[in-house]
Amino acid sequence: MKAIALKNAGKDYRLELAEVAKPRPGKGEILIKVAAAGVNRADILQAEGVYPPPPGAPQTLGLEVSGHVAELGADAGNYQIGDAVCALLGGGGYAEYALAPMECVLPLPSSLDPIDAAALPEALFTAWTNIAETGRLKPGETLLVHGGASGIGVAAIQMFAALGHTVFATAGSDEKCRLCEALGARRAINYRNEDFVAITQEMTQGKGVDVVLDMVGGDYVQRNMTAAAVWGRIVNIAYQNGAKVALDLNPMLRKRLTLAATTLRARTVPEKGAIRDALAHAIWPLVAAGRIRPVVDGRFALGEAQAAHRRMASGDHAGKILLIPG
Ligand SMILES: NC(=O)c1ccc[n+]([C@@H]2O[C@H](COP(=O)([O-])OP(=O)(O)OC[C@H]3O[C@@H](n4cnc5c(N)ncnc54)[C@H](OP(=O)(O)O)[C@@H]3O)[C@@H](O)[C@H]2O)c1
Repeated sequence: MKAIALKNAGKDYRLELAEVAKPRPGKGEILIKVAAAGVNRADILQAEGVYPPPPGAPQTLGLEVSGHVAELGADAGNYQIGDAVCALLGGGGYAEYALAPMECVLPLPSSLDPIDAAALPEALFTAWTNIAETGRLKPGETLLVHGGASGIGVAAIQMFAALGHTVFATAGSDEKCRLCEALGARRAINYRNEDFVAITQEMTQGKGVDVVLDMVGGDYVQRNMTAAAVWGRIVNIAYQNGAKVALDLNPMLRKRLTLAATTLRARTVPEKGAIRDALAHAIWPLVAAGRIRPVVDGRFALGEAQAAHRRMASGDHAGKILLIPG
């Protein structure tokens, strides 16, 4: 089968189409004929050599796919050959076929485009576990999503707006802010010329936001504490602007804050399966009803993976970039 090979890992990495052996599903695994693979910022970091795959994960890039069940390993659940599915992967998505543990697979509702569905797994799993679980967002509470137009952000806004929360978001252009608001954000804040602390304070009548999902870090760590409400929870999923910061921790004491950070990829299959089950219950019906939809910036042929990475690295994209092997 064709797959993308990573050559010269590091700043000048190359992504090239190569012929590799088609994987065979083991116990509890499903082989998916890939309709599309989602591109994630983590793929760029892996190609640059700063985010190695966890032990046992495939070396091939690609953390999520949509497609059809091609083969079933033993004890791989109730799926049938040909079923339309999407899945979260430990790696291996940039290929014609990819292996997924059955615990990380979701069946596609007929209302969902089988290619665009590849935009969902990584974003839904990440947003749910960090906002609902680690962030403990409760009914009636408010949420601030940094990077609202990112692949993760467009899903997070839709999910928690659809569940009835007031959601604020930050983004780097007025056009991206309008996208965030069209997806359900009450107010999107252009971080290049507006202050998210001042605006969220004003929009919450001085109370602050209950949960912050942050992928920026750097000076946002301190500013998130200022933006947070009493008993607020701040969850970092990345530190794009730096993980080493000098902090005044007094707001943590004064406001009884929680500062947390998690990664999804290194979690065990049962842990990911528990997130899949929660999504199937709370979010998948909203996806089937069209209230949460894939937001796709663009589609690239699998062989154009390098161009797809350039698009993401430019920061001009909004939503997800997809690779199509077909
Ligand atoms: N920990 C985990 O388990 C986990 C899982 C998935 C993803 N992530 C992380 O989540 C982030 C998003 O991933 P992705 O694949 O969706 O990548 P992406 O689409 O490239 O998103 C990156 C986002 O960062 C935003 N950003 C950069 N500087 C900002 C600032 N100063 N203020 C507000 N937003 C800023 C960008 O906003 P503009 O484009 O509007 O400038 C962009 O939307 C990445 O950092 C990724 O590593 C972590």
